[in-house]
Amino acid sequence: MRQLIFATNNKHKVDEVRAALDGKATVLTLADAGLHGEIPETADTLQGNALQKAMWVWSRLPGIDGCFADDTGLEVDALGGAPGVYSARYAGEHCSFDDNIDKLLRALDGVADRRARFRTVICLIEHGEPRYFEGRVDGQILTERHSAGEGFGYDPVFMPDRFAVSFAEMPLDVKNRISHRGLAVARLAEYLAG
Ligand code: IMP
Repeated sequence: MRQLIFATNNKHKVDEVRAALDGKATVLTLADAGLHGEIPETADTLQGNALQKAMWVWSRLPGIDGCFADDTGLEVDALGGAPGVYSARYAGEHCSFDDNIDKLLRALDGVADRRARFRTVICLIEHGEPRYFEGRVDGQILTERHSAGEGFGYDPVFMPDRFAVSFAEMPLDVKNRISHRGLAVARLAEYLAG
């Protein structure tokens, strides 16, 4: 089975992707591959960042079967698509999830159009050639946090279409089935299955 290196240090993402690619590829982490350090993420599109991160791995380990990276953004219609590619640092360079949510709720204070979507782009590099897989989930930004627990990122204020609860209130397996990242990973799995 081919071995693919996933350019992330996020353990939760690795678990989710390993489960989705089970039987189609062995997924190695950066640590498994002996790679350490900050991966640059300086492009101004999701596709550009995913390519940059995957190329960072590929250029260091030219003998591998392949590698991939993902990048996600929350695009809010009333904000012209912001925070988009800057979702992680919307409220500043070292901000918390809570800082980002506070800034988002302030920006949408009194705004009726709350349509938004999460979009994930995965870039897979095999034989030096990039290939892209995308997933998106449409929904709206709530006016306040709806959270059973901690929630990741903007989860407490994002309610996907056709659901009456926020991402933070859903069981993780349900979220993973309908989420931007879940759908992008499913497309990657489909491609790898041939
Ligand atoms: P990343 O590219 O996966 O690191 O995502 C960038 C940023 O988007 C994260 O720091 C989060 O703020 C946000 N984000 C990504 N995925 C999710 C999600 O599933 N729920 C909520 N926020 C997310």
